[in-house]
Amino acid sequence: MRCERGSARGSGNVITSKDSAAMLEKYDLNKLAIGTLGSHSALNIFKGAKEEGFRTVCISTEKNAMLYKKFPLADEIIIVKDFTELLSPALQEKLRSLNVILIPHGSFTAYLSTEQLTSSLRVPMFGNRQLLHWEANREEQADWLRKAGLLLPATFKKPDEIDRLVIAKLPGAKGGKGYFLANSPSSFRKKAKEMVDRGLLREEDLEKIHLQEYALGVNVYPSYFSSIIKDDVEFLAVDRRYESAVDAIGKIPASEQLEIDVNPTYTIVGNFPIVLRESLLPELIRMGENVHKKAMELAPPGIIGPFCLETVITDDLKIYTFEISARIVAGTNIGIGTSPYAYLRYGADMYMGRRIALELKEAREQGRLPEVLA
Ligand SMILES: Nc1ncnc2c1ncn2[C@@H]1O[C@H](COP(=O)(O)OP(=O)(O)O)[C@@H](O)[C@H]1O
Ligand SMILES: [Mg+2]
Repeated sequence: MRCERGSARGSGNVITSKDSAAMLEKYDLNKLAIGTLGSHSALNIFKGAKEEGFRTVCISTEKNAMLYKKFPLADEIIIVKDFTELLSPALQEKLRSLNVILIPHGSFTAYLSTEQLTSSLRVPMFGNRQLLHWEANREEQADWLRKAGLLLPATFKKPDEIDRLVIAKLPGAKGGKGYFLANSPSSFRKKAKEMVDRGLLREEDLEKIHLQEYALGVNVYPSYFSSIIKDDVEFLAVDRRYESAVDAIGKIPASEQLEIDVNPTYTIVGNFPIVLRESLLPELIRMGENVHKKAMELAPPGIIGPFCLETVITDDLKIYTFEISARIVAGTNIGIGTSPYAYLRYGADMYMGRRIALELKEAREQGRLPEVLA
């Protein structure tokens, strides 16, 4: 998800691994706590932290705090009005006094801008903050993935170039709201006009629409863990999403679909685990390794911890990648307890939340914590 696309590159006050090291000097490392915002994959993260022996701190709204009491995984719940309060110096001071390392997830990038995350969140954070810039901008993200040798859907600069089925994406759209499909310049203009007439799109947004080849196939979301401590990119889980309304459209006969106004919106409701054809795994593993390798050049030391590729696999088994998340995705919640690929690597009881905690534990044991808090 990307709502805010601020850029702080070159602004000079970006928080680095050195700053994290300085903050850690005041920490009691024996009482290290893992903290995150109460939403998205917090239960996954807290359970993993507890299983690796860490204390846990949940920053939650009053309304959702019941969830973190119902599943007793948070040692401390800090109530906030909303998640932007994470920027308050008083809350940051409190988190540091509790020896907290923050684990970023989708709600961090949804509520805070890239600039706020890289420059104003003065609490040690697991991951590479510099990569947030590459992730936040559609063009830079595509550039990164292409340079890593991945196959991306073709893009079209203007509607007149459309010569195949495309998906028209609005900048900053959430859950694919207002996205539509077109297969020629004239069908694009007709659909765009309809969208404007129905109030789903503003005339001025038409200029900013991103036209991308529609990859016809099934969605596959592989999740990886880039371990700085073990110097390895692990392949841990694969999921697909359960999206409303697009996953419901097939329940309506085609003749009736034409009569009623159904839109292929992609609001996430949940996730399913996938076990892939074994012959697809080598390519997916190579893709993860190459994305990390390219990231090492763009923003050393590359990806720290979890990341996920959003792909479509076609019937001739081409793998198109259309997005990356350089952090834990909620799809890894399917693996809480265990998942086939985590099992193959670690045996039972390994999943993304726990893998993060294990990395922090090993980094602490080896005196290398600043390396994973860049
Ligand atoms: N090039 C594409 N080909 C086929 N389906 C796509 C393509 N791009 C996006 N989609 C579908 O649209 C959904 C939302 O697109 P995405 O770019 O991930 O938007 P968001 O910013 O909301 O995450 C995806 O989950 C996928 O199902
Ligand atoms: Mg997406």
